[in-house]
Amino acid sequence: MKFKVAVIGLRMGHAWAQAAYNNPDTELALCYDKYFRENSAIDQKYYEERKIPMTDNEADIYASDVDVVIVASPDHFHVEQCVAALEAGKHVICEKPLAPTVEDCKKIIEAVRKSGKFFMTGQVCRYAPGFKTAKALYESGRIGELVYIESEYAHDYTYSKGYQNWRLDPKIKREGFLGGGCHALDLSRWLAGDPLEVFAYMNHKLLPDWPTCDTGVTVVKFPDDVIGRIFVSVGIKRPYTMRTVLYGTKGSIICDNTSDHILISEEILRAPTGDIAFNKIPVNVASHNVSSELKEFIDYLKEGKQCPTDVYQGTATVAFAEAALRSAVSGKPEQIEKI
Ligand SMILES: NC(=O)c1ccc[n+]([C@@H]2O[C@H](COP(=O)([O-])OP(=O)(O)OC[C@H]3O[C@@H](n4cnc5c(N)ncnc54)[C@H](O)[C@@H]3O)[C@@H](O)[C@H]2O)c1
Repeated sequence: MKFKVAVIGLRMGHAWAQAAYNNPDTELALCYDKYFRENSAIDQKYYEERKIPMTDNEADIYASDVDVVIVASPDHFHVEQCVAALEAGKHVICEKPLAPTVEDCKKIIEAVRKSGKFFMTGQVCRYAPGFKTAKALYESGRIGELVYIESEYAHDYTYSKGYQNWRLDPKIKREGFLGGGCHALDLSRWLAGDPLEVFAYMNHKLLPDWPTCDTGVTVVKFPDDVIGRIFVSVGIKRPYTMRTVLYGTKGSIICDNTSDHILISEEILRAPTGDIAFNKIPVNVASHNVSSELKEFIDYLKEGKQCPTDVYQGTATVAFAEAALRSAVSGKPEQIEKI
């Protein structure tokens, strides 16, 4: 039996639609994009050529017999669409960031609990082969105990305003630190555990006509006396980076998505001269592996189990961002809400 999948929002959602079309265990059964005809950035031909069922009425998605709804609309629609899908008895996958605030995320948590359905937050970096390899190397003990972690998300959004410019709409006030930065925040949580406290500075010099700060840096306390730093910029003038570095008691790992490899240095391989070198592990670090995200969700669904990147994970990453945003205003370290 194939699981029937519906997708809402067909820009980032296009990658999900393709994944659902190609996964042997799923059928791309229905799609909805509020501006399917008007939005020329949508690959309309893809849907027409494959005769993918399309609706122009959102309610049809919830009334349909699909098993899974994938929400890939702009962030500020995630709560209402996830809740509607869960209340209609669907399993749900929602793009990151789960929602603009922790308060909103908690409405999704409530709907997940009431429905008993399975839920995934689309934190795609957890599925990129490079970051998976870095985590496996660390967990196998190759670099010893974690001492310091840093992760960055720098991606110039000047030309990525979103359909009808929602990313810079002053009424929506999307926080770039959360919207894009949730990749780096989530990666650091995934690798180092739930952070306890954060201190942040943020500024607003690169995208002055956007409504929120475009650049921020945080210093973070993680469990087990691990310290860290997260840098986020949605305006910085350089190629997209999500460079993530792990420094341990016995070695270091650099996972840089602008390269085609991971670097690892290990105390055990130190030369008699005292020199310690980096060795290259070839791996795709840049990949946004949506098909592997969907595969994991479906594989768990087949077993009747919840996948690890659940609604609580998505909420905890939003809580991390929220505390950093609070700190940038208060000028003090802020505690991170435990989810
Ligand atoms: N995982 C990633 O790396 C990644 C990358 C890009 C975007 N995203 C996330 O995906 C979501 C969408 O971002 P995007 O880049 O596709 O934005 P976008 O503005 O390029 O596209 C949004 C699409 O949703 C449609 N839409 C708008 N309002 C809608 C509604 N109420 N219901 C249904 N469809 C609606 C638009 O017509 C458009 O096709 C965001 O939450 C974003 O954070 C994730």
